[in-house]
Amino acid sequence: MTGIAFLLNGTPVRVADEPPTRTLLDWLREVRGLTGTKEGCNEGDCGACTVMVSDARGSRALNACILFLPQLHGKAVRTVEGIAGPDGALHPVQAEMIAHHGSQCGFCTPGFIVAMAVAHLNGRRDHDDALAGNLCRCTGYAPIVRAAEAAATQPVPEWMRADLDARAQDGTDGTGTDDAFRPRHADELAAWYMDNPEATLIAGATDVGLWVTKQLRELAPLAFIAGLDDLSGVSVEADRIRIGACTTLSELRAAIAPHHPDFAELIRRYGSAQVRAAATIGGNIANGSPIGDGPPALIALGATLHLRRGDTRREMALEDFFIDYGKQDRAPGEFVEAVSFPRQPDVLRCYKLSKRFDQDISAVCGCFNIRVEDGRVREARIAFGGMAGTPKRAAAVEAALAGQKWNEESVRAALPAFEDDFTPLSDMRASADYRMRAAQNMLWRCYHESRGTPARVLEVAP
Ligand SMILES: Cc1cc2nc3c(=O)[nH]c(=O)nc-3n(C[C@H](O)[C@H](O)[C@H](O)COP(=O)(O)OP(=O)(O)OC[C@H]3O[C@@H](n4cnc5c(N)ncnc54)[C@H](O)[C@@H]3O)c2cc1C
Ligand code: FES
Ligand code: FES
Repeated sequence: MTGIAFLLNGTPVRVADEPPTRTLLDWLREVRGLTGTKEGCNEGDCGACTVMVSDARGSRALNACILFLPQLHGKAVRTVEGIAGPDGALHPVQAEMIAHHGSQCGFCTPGFIVAMAVAHLNGRRDHDDALAGNLCRCTGYAPIVRAAEAAATQPVPEWMRADLDARAQDGTDGTGTDDAFRPRHADELAAWYMDNPEATLIAGATDVGLWVTKQLRELAPLAFIAGLDDLSGVSVEADRIRIGACTTLSELRAAIAPHHPDFAELIRRYGSAQVRAAATIGGNIANGSPIGDGPPALIALGATLHLRRGDTRREMALEDFFIDYGKQDRAPGEFVEAVSFPRQPDVLRCYKLSKRFDQDISAVCGCFNIRVEDGRVREARIAFGGMAGTPKRAAAVEAALAGQKWNEESVRAALPAFEDDFTPLSDMRASADYRMRAAQNMLWRCYHESRGTPARVLEVAP
């Protein structure tokens, strides 16, 4: 039976006859009259539309404007209307927002309240990170963060835990129409995609959502693949780390932190909590973006991409997947299964340069995996985003460093090789000259950090 079933503020709902690309935001406001959830940017940038979504993996804040209804099947959704208790008792974050004067015009406030309530439920104290995806034009962030800090000392209200146990399924298939497919496992996806090679796969929809809300594209057929268990998760094996394509960036961040903390730190600056909770690493690779943050780090780690088409699997070095701007080595009906890389002692350094610290796309993202033994560079793997039409290895720079003493002279001597590797573009994020200089300076920064000199914006004391 086509249809989508989920809990909405604790009540089971069943949605039928809605297009599968109907966003939760539009449906809440236009069909349910739940207008507390606001539309600001309609592209995942402002957090005004934040809702709480819970399932067996926990509760997270998501942007309803780029969340399609089928992505909610079997889950529990809580909007700002469901944050106060059933008897009208205020949630601690609501009471503290009032007490700390955290709202002026109030347009951003529902989104903040939901994001704060999710962070409160999950015991988060990193308020700046948890709220980096919520923009406020008039109050200023200090009172809001003070409210979050005050609420954090208070217990989680009982009603906020109810969603974690509740599931609504009711025998529907989770699609909405016959144009949409919801595989239960990777084998089903593989078979269906062979028969429907023109289909659009939707994982976190943090890219595809914008094709609908901003480009007004009609998409069909569709397969919703987020949350597929056999394509999700990070497995740490004896000699490799393997990341399933549907692993979200927030799951990856937690799993990778013990192995490559700089990669985890890079992911902290990837979008916002809301974006990271939806976006998958498979989508970040498959979209072929030259400015995606995942590929440079993975290429520097020597990653292998695992692709599947029907029952046929193939592997390639991740950098070889990116053929040209907008062109990847992926056949019709083929999908990303996973990405893996060898376990190795951690020397990875990742630098993301963007106009804003939080919630901004990289102008340049440079990742350096430089192994030094007995004072000499034994191996250098360096990759950049934002320097070419694809994520790209700095092969000439690597060659210039390999075998050399790891010292200032060698670094300086390697700098001209950047011109052999890259001819960056000028665009609204940065000029070509700026990009080139920034990339070269990242090598300097990597060198100085390897010598113990603090060079991080958040670490250098005035
Ligand atoms: C507000 C905002 C901020 C962002 N910030 C950043 C940032 O800081 N850094 C960054 O790198 N990106 C950023 N992005 C871009 C986006 O989040 C990423 O590219 C994301 O990883 C895409 O993953 P997804 O699961 O949402 O992909 P989707 O939107 O679901 O899909 C993207 C593309 O990949 C395809 N696809 C998805 N999964 C597979 C698969 N397993 N096999 C084959 N094809 C597949 C889809 O068909 C589609 O073509 C941001 C986006 C938004 C909206
Ligand atoms: S409306 Fe701005 S993030 Fe959704
Ligand atoms: S209170 Fe006006 S935008 Fe935040």
